[in-house]
Amino acid sequence: MSLGWTGILASHCKLVQSQSGRSFCRWISSAVQRGSNYAELNQADVAAFTDILGSGGVVQDETALDAANEDWMGKYKGNSKLLLRPKTTQQTSDILKHCNDRRLAVVPQGGNSGLVGGSVPLFDEVIVSFASMKRILSLDKVNGALTCQAGSTLQELDDHAREHGFLMPLDLGAKGSCQAGGFVSTNAGGLRFLRYGSLHGSVLGLEAVLADGTILNSMQTLPKDNTGYDLKQLFIGAEGTLGLITAVAIRCPFASTSTNLAYLACESYEAVTEVYRRARRELGEILSAFEFLDRQALELTKQHLENVKDPLPSTNTQFYLVVETSGSNAEHDMAKLEGFLTDAMEEGLIADGTIAQDTGQAQGIWGLREGISVALRHAGATYKYDLSLPPPALYTMVEVMRQRLSHHDVRVVGYGHLGDSNLHLNISSADWKEEVRKEIEPFVYEWTAEHGGSISAEHGLGQMKPECIRYSKSPEMVGMMHRVKDLFDPNHILNPYKLLPQRTQ
Ligand code: FAD
Ligand code: MLT
Ligand code: ZN
Repeated sequence: MSLGWTGILASHCKLVQSQSGRSFCRWISSAVQRGSNYAELNQADVAAFTDILGSGGVVQDETALDAANEDWMGKYKGNSKLLLRPKTTQQTSDILKHCNDRRLAVVPQGGNSGLVGGSVPLFDEVIVSFASMKRILSLDKVNGALTCQAGSTLQELDDHAREHGFLMPLDLGAKGSCQAGGFVSTNAGGLRFLRYGSLHGSVLGLEAVLADGTILNSMQTLPKDNTGYDLKQLFIGAEGTLGLITAVAIRCPFASTSTNLAYLACESYEAVTEVYRRARRELGEILSAFEFLDRQALELTKQHLENVKDPLPSTNTQFYLVVETSGSNAEHDMAKLEGFLTDAMEEGLIADGTIAQDTGQAQGIWGLREGISVALRHAGATYKYDLSLPPPALYTMVEVMRQRLSHHDVRVVGYGHLGDSNLHLNISSADWKEEVRKEIEPFVYEWTAEHGGSISAEHGLGQMKPECIRYSKSPEMVGMMHRVKDLFDPNHILNPYKLLPQRTQ
């Protein structure tokens, strides 16, 4: 369904040279200018922040600022002159109180692994980093509720949960760097979404600091609580525009005692969707991940990542699947998986396949799947789209784009969380080229809206596509979002220019 909105403001890309000599693309929406309502940082501000944090928490060093100003893809670069590292919620509150009084714009930053430029400034916003708030606070050994400060990385949390027989309900390639505050603020999906669902369900409580310094504490660990509006939900996926998350309570499931991983080759997309349909029906409760990649994704990853091994080197099909089961009875789970695979092979749905025989082989398969985005980064510039599409249309999008861009020297790559109807459409090019982007956008968003999809499945909108929210949300919904923003952050100091479109008066 198209929402009939056509007024997307054109953004353009300016090629600039980084200090390291690497050419990156500074994307600047032509309509976005530094807000005249924001103050400029002065020495008195730095002195005030030093009073709050001590000199160790106030960073003006150029190398550290360079890293924090640039996003993971090397696509967006801001010009912040100050990075603050609070250690406590109270310090975070004091920082925001000062910023709000002075009208200093703020960008919250976690692991800076976001893929839509949400975590880096556009101009001179003050960066508030959570790298010094890393304490894991508690883990309930009965119900698995884990509480932590916002700067704990997903890997640290998962390691801690596993020491006690649990695991984190989400997993993603950036687990070594992404932080609780960051993955909650983006409502990250990842590889375990199929099994454990959205963070809107797993997050039991959180603590957030509003723009004026008010601390909202809903750090409770009860699975059920029906007392009034569930305000914490507003911060999940808000991309730092409503408040700074300082702590999180999250429900960890028990880790499965039996896990199997299969890597399968399919000739056609029709076969892929049929294998998925049957996996849901026949593997039922033990199905825990269903990922796909196409041949172009496989080839690109093998080309750019030396340590990745092709699990099926002699097959030459167009599609590959990573199918995981997690249960509690190894014999039963394996029998179920083998039965399912045998039937699918006999019927010609699967051309070839392998089941990991040990943890090393399983890690190798996951390394290939998780390595795709890293390989794309090595390959040069990536035009990255993260789409929700109904399964029948999902791969058509890749084919349509391949056809559309056939006269350009680019590689169109498709992979993603097929079990969640989430396509990662990536166009890889040696360099950023504005003429390529113009052929992709807004076509990719229009096509997605026309086919009943969403223009962001899990990465969010950030600074890449705030104007495009209207392809997926009605004017009434966007209007209500603006009113929520006004209520939580009346001076609009929190992560300006991100997530929400500019207002038309
Ligand atoms: P950042 O990038 O630092 O920030 C992300 C957003 O949250 C920004 O808007 C920022 O301002 C805000 N923010 C950060 N911390 C706070 C805070 N404490 N309070 C308020 N706002 C805050 N995403 C998926 O959904 N699924 C995947 O499978 C996936 N795989 C990835 C694989 C790789 C290799 C990479 C590089 C990224 C991947 N991502 C994936 C992107 C994903 O959004 C991030 O990895 C993660 O969710 C962001 O966490 P972060 O701590 O790095 O946040
Ligand atoms: C993934 O699923 O690999 C991530 O979302 C990262 C990406 O899209 O590149
Ligand atoms: Zn993903």
